[in-house]
Amino acid sequence: MRKKFIAGNWKMNLTKAAAVELAAGLAAKIGTPSVDVAVCPPSVYLDAVVGALAGSAIQVGGQNCYHEPKGAFTGELSAAMLLDIGCKYVILGHSERRHILKETNADIQKKVVAALAAGLTPILCVGELLSEREAGQTAAVVHDQFDGSLAGISAEQVQQVVIAYEPVWAIGTGKVATPEQAEEVHANLRAHIAAKLGQATADVVRIQYGGSVTAENAATLLHQPNIDGALVGGASLKVESFLGIVAGAT
Ligand code: G3P
Repeated sequence: MRKKFIAGNWKMNLTKAAAVELAAGLAAKIGTPSVDVAVCPPSVYLDAVVGALAGSAIQVGGQNCYHEPKGAFTGELSAAMLLDIGCKYVILGHSERRHILKETNADIQKKVVAALAAGLTPILCVGELLSEREAGQTAAVVHDQFDGSLAGISAEQVQQVVIAYEPVWAIGTGKVATPEQAEEVHANLRAHIAAKLGQATADVVRIQYGGSVTAENAATLLHQPNIDGALVGGASLKVESFLGIVAGAT
């Protein structure tokens, strides 16, 4: 029922030449996948990557946007600009922005509203710290981030949002959540969405898993009933490993 969705978050990596080479390598080999696929390059490389992926099945996303549509906001970029340059998606509320750049649920909520208004699909990240998991707070943290980042947004609009569950302790650490650990959180979050916004919404919202996903561990994660895709960091920087994850989703 839910089409799986594999997205690569290139974070603050690569040069322009390397980004174009990676995109061109993916475009040459992606074929016609049965799942949705996207890459999210650094914003300065978006234009070049959109060009390199033209005509391929791979969509492009931004890694962040500002909540205002335009104006005197030096250094920021709007959701409309991302759309204008060829993006379909925008990652919002990534844990690196929550924890390093101190973005709050309220900040992220405004960005989600702006992204939806511009016609982008937000990929909203949620996930607990190791200390929160060890304190038994995983569900509470994930619910709070979901509720706060989507406050006031209708069920119909939430259906347009992709959620990425990324346990912070699994990001870039090589310590992937077990399929059971991930599925438990995904199922719990889906039940929370059903209780809050109705079963119809819970049934259609895609929930990706992110955190040390590789071509080797992807298939078992992606065959859990409530895991609808992956948001991939490190392994999205190489053609073979990213395409191996896409293959694991089919
Ligand atoms: O957004 C994806 C990410 O945070 C996961 O990173 O390197 O653990 O796959 P990585």
